[in-house]
Amino acid sequence: MKILVATGNPGKVKEYQEFFSELPVEFVSLNDVGITEECEETGDTLKENSLQKAQFYGDLSGLPAVADDAGLFVDVLEGRPGVYSSRYANSDEERMEKLLQELEKIPYNERGADFRLVTTLYYPDTKEHVSFEGKIRGIIAEEKKQLAQKGFGYDPIFYVPEEEKTFAEMMGEEKNAISHRGIAFRKLKKYLEK
Ligand code: IMP
Repeated sequence: MKILVATGNPGKVKEYQEFFSELPVEFVSLNDVGITEECEETGDTLKENSLQKAQFYGDLSGLPAVADDAGLFVDVLEGRPGVYSSRYANSDEERMEKLLQELEKIPYNERGADFRLVTTLYYPDTKEHVSFEGKIRGIIAEEKKQLAQKGFGYDPIFYVPEEEKTFAEMMGEEKNAISHRGIAFRKLKKYLEK
């Protein structure tokens, strides 16, 4: 079975290829199938956005397509930046600075947040889809903490109390074992194994 990874990000394609490497599934990129069109992201939820991308590229290629969408949902900001996490400011550094500033006066016990990810697999022949969600609870740290430039996005300020570390202080497998992405991907894996 061939599945198109509906993203222009080569890192994400590699992630799918590695995570599902034991399965008899070949994950191909937009580049592999010669697609250069860009898909809009206009949904209000992670599920809508992931379905929008999977549907757009699935219909365009005729292949089953998988797409994911993730975001950081901060309690006291009523879920912001949420689906807009990647558009909250211009760079990872600026996004973290902006969030830390918004939470400047908020005490530790009110800094709770969720990282969530939804991955959707869409079949262009039947127009059916399945979606899987992963979620992890954490705290927005008061300052950045990371090991040797580890992590991406909001990793250096996402603190997991049970581990006593931020995402950016964890090794890859350590983060995968508990992260929103790891949880959603393991659900998709179970589904694909059937
Ligand atoms: P995307 O949908 O995977 O592109 O993620 C949307 C935004 O959430 C991006 O700005 C990412 O930096 C951020 N994000 C998603 N997952 C993570 C994570 O595991 N750590 C840090 N930031 C993340």
